[in-house]
Amino acid sequence: MSGRIPQYFIDQLIARIDIVEVIGTRVPLRKAGREYKACCPFHDEKTPSFNVVPDKQFYHCFGCGAHGTALGFLMDYDHLSFVEAVEELAARTGLDVPREASTTPTANKPTQDHYTLLEQAGEYFRQQLRNSPAAIEYLKKRGLTGETASRFGIGYAPDAWDGLIKQLGQSDAALQALTQTGLLIERDSKNGFYDRFRQRVMFPIRDSRGRTIGFGGRIIDQGEPKYLNSPETELFHKGRELYGLYEARQATRQLKQLLAVEGYMDVVSLHQAGITYAVATLGTATTPDHLKRLFRACNTVVFCFDGDRAGRAAAWKALEVALPVVSEGQLIRFLLLPEQHDPDSLVREEGREAFESRVTQATPLSEYMVNALSTRFDLSHAEGRDQFTAEAKRLLALLNNDSYRTLLYQPLAAALGISVDRLRQLIPPPDAARENPARSAASTPLESPGRGSLVRQLIQNLLHYPAAVLALDQLDELAQVDKPGITLLVQLAGELKAQPDLPVAALLERWRQRPDFHYIDKLFLKEPPASSLEIAMDEVKKACARLIADQFPKARFDELMHRFHLGTLSAEEKQELRELIRRQGSR
Ligand code: CTP
Ligand code: MN
Repeated sequence: MSGRIPQYFIDQLIARIDIVEVIGTRVPLRKAGREYKACCPFHDEKTPSFNVVPDKQFYHCFGCGAHGTALGFLMDYDHLSFVEAVEELAARTGLDVPREASTTPTANKPTQDHYTLLEQAGEYFRQQLRNSPAAIEYLKKRGLTGETASRFGIGYAPDAWDGLIKQLGQSDAALQALTQTGLLIERDSKNGFYDRFRQRVMFPIRDSRGRTIGFGGRIIDQGEPKYLNSPETELFHKGRELYGLYEARQATRQLKQLLAVEGYMDVVSLHQAGITYAVATLGTATTPDHLKRLFRACNTVVFCFDGDRAGRAAAWKALEVALPVVSEGQLIRFLLLPEQHDPDSLVREEGREAFESRVTQATPLSEYMVNALSTRFDLSHAEGRDQFTAEAKRLLALLNNDSYRTLLYQPLAAALGISVDRLRQLIPPPDAARENPARSAASTPLESPGRGSLVRQLIQNLLHYPAAVLALDQLDELAQVDKPGITLLVQLAGELKAQPDLPVAALLERWRQRPDFHYIDKLFLKEPPASSLEIAMDEVKKACARLIADQFPKARFDELMHRFHLGTLSAEEKQELRELIRRQGSR
């Protein structure tokens, strides 16, 4: 009846829940260092050998070998099916389980109350603003009109610990609910509650349907923190929301483009100036969820960042997040503002027309990427060019779509001063690798890499240190290596590259339905080969180079020789080169 549960939702669910809480409500856990212990609920024992590891969101019993994620635990302990376990966890976090086929989303009761409370709180803050000359003065000083303030529902939280409590916290249930919405903070069970937001200008954050789901509060004039936001709640997820999107939709039914800026005041000021397609990421780095939301609303996104160093870093980060997400027909541009300016100050200084002409002339993603790379590496030297090529290759590998890749070859080649064909040799498009019949079909049955094999060591390191995938920069070559387990390794690395911060537990859940789940599951239980991320990265880099060298001794030989002449070989690489020379001699 209902469709598949999409993968992203399971990833998200795993990231949101806490395995300690899930297991802790069923089995009494005792904290021991960074882990939790208990007597194993799956077999009879007197001394605890059941461990819950929050870092990995994973549990393991050293006595009977039971192990798994929070989802796996519910399946085994509560005897739930996979879908039931997902639904159980989703209910705990207040999320509706989406289905790939269309089914009607269920509205659930408790969150309905939360929406009402948040709306009432917003109303209270607005009423307080009307009674606060100081707050009104502050907004005027910042150039906001009353009309803009009311369009954004801006209010004021007075200087009191119990303003909101007096207004809305009539019962225990109300106090609890207000706390769950993030508006109150509970001191501890005896000493009651207090208002989270005090003496701040309040910006309601609305979802796409205009319901208030959280708030941002700005201190009046000086003070720390300058902005205070609602915490993560059932309804509010900072990494997903776009401030101003609802208002932008209200202003223009069919949005042509969105301008993504950083701050609340930027959005409000831009709207007031008539640039009503501005939204803000609430001061967090751009996430894939943000991008998906932006592109659901329109096909062109202009990222706008301050012109300082932090702004440039944020722009680059946005680029890296965008590459795996952007698809054909979607346009991304970058607009870096002059130093000392943010959108708010600039639009007030130069006005709508001048600001919009900057938006129109914003740099397309491809140009931005090539320019940034050219600034970063010295293209007048071989080494700089190698680094440029390596970085371009890494970025191209992030792309999930061929037209963008094709689009990028031309300017990249031009920057290097070589032909597109030559660049295609240096950075083979992934299809070339996929066309290799030996390695095609994702459904290749598992040939498990043997004990002690490099492939196995690589997989194990990646499972324990997902971030070590950053050291794997030759995925295309690796895909062509003919060794058992390579397909699995490449698939694993590919998914991690797209999302290096994917929790390992989520990674395991991705494999649950795949043929090699048991293999991954088993390897995950083994001690990691490396004892730290740093060592893992080193091992990953070396194992990868080694596998490729074994498969392509000629190419590796040439590369090592080239670098030998440049004098950039490490001691190990020198050893490797000697070995290759020796092997060539014996042929
Ligand atoms: N931000 C935040 N928490 C902070 C600081 C900033 O959430 N402690 C977010 C806010 O969304 C803020 C945005 O990051 O709007 C940009 O921060 P910043 O550039 O420091 O502030 P401005 O937006 O310029 O704020 P203002 O103009 O009010 O000074
Ligand atoms: Mn500002």
